Amino acid sequence: MNLDELQAAAQKELSTLATMEQLEAFRIKYLGGKGLLKAASDHLKTLPNDQKRTHGGKLNTVKQAIQIGYEEAKTRLAGNPETVDTRVDITEPGRMAFVDYHSGSLHIVHQTIEALTDLFGQMGFSIAEGPEIEDEFHNFEALNVPPQHPARDPLDNFYIQRPPGATAYMLRSQTSSVQIRVLEKQKPPIRIVSPGRVYRPDTVDATHSFMFHQIEGLVVDEHITMIDLKTCIDQFAKAFFGADVETRFRPSFFPFTEPSAEFDVQFHYADGESRWVELGGCGMVDPNVLEMVHVDPEKYTGFAFGLGVERIAMRKHGIEDIRLLFENDVRFLQQF
Ligand code: DAH
Repeated sequence: MNLDELQAAAQKELSTLATMEQLEAFRIKYLGGKGLLKAASDHLKTLPNDQKRTHGGKLNTVKQAIQIGYEEAKTRLAGNPETVDTRVDITEPGRMAFVDYHSGSLHIVHQTIEALTDLFGQMGFSIAEGPEIEDEFHNFEALNVPPQHPARDPLDNFYIQRPPGATAYMLRSQTSSVQIRVLEKQKPPIRIVSPGRVYRPDTVDATHSFMFHQIEGLVVDEHITMIDLKTCIDQFAKAFFGADVETRFRPSFFPFTEPSAEFDVQFHYADGESRWVELGGCGMVDPNVLEMVHVDPEKYTGFAFGLGVERIAMRKHGIEDIRLLFENDVRFLQQF
């Protein structure tokens, strides 16, 4: 092929190029390291000196023409959306440095409630809920707390003002009220946990808040004994805090359980120290409570327990001041 033919062939091909792939094939064929122009220039070197000059000049002109034609074709194809590669490279790193939004997450108290209810769910409990504005019957009376009982002192509860003689309502002071709500509606066997807010007019400090969360447990069936209660608490503590924790029960008193106990969990710290930490109250459901909701205490027995959610969250995450949980400073919340 002489140089004129080469130029004509290139020109013809350039006019038919329709894609970037074809353009690249053209570049390799004519302009590439092993392309036709390289071959022509190799050939030039073999010519006698007198021919080199004329052929050399001609070769340069042809080369330039093809190069220019190539650049033009490239510009033409790049402006054509059909020839541009619009695929997204999903392996490209994102541009997070320029993006200033944060994805939200559940509050640590709610994460703890979910972890607790998940675990009790695996232990066969279902979830029950009750109202936060509660009447005295469900918060106290049916739980064997009579009217003159000190727990009902107006200074220790958030009563809601009502006309004299009208039903007294209050912000519930304990999730134990849900025990009654469930027993009124459901026949044994019962196996529920009930998480939720409770309210008490306590002075706020590092360990007290006027609002906090409890999770209540209730099991009522035939032949339920204290062994079931202790086993349940112990299994829960080991599953939640780790197989190496131990539990212990101390005699206590609650109006709605008999016998009653408080239970502690022993934590082992890295420095070799171990400490008992109180987790909640529990006991065998008092027969008076079952009678209040027309469940036969001769046939059925049960156990109940109540845990403080904040206390568990604080223990688990080493949080030393309960107020941090409710101030909702994003710098604190982001850590969980
Ligand atoms: N309601 C009790 C409290 O707020 C906690 C509690 C103790 C709940 C014993 C129970 C229980 O179900 O059996 O202090």
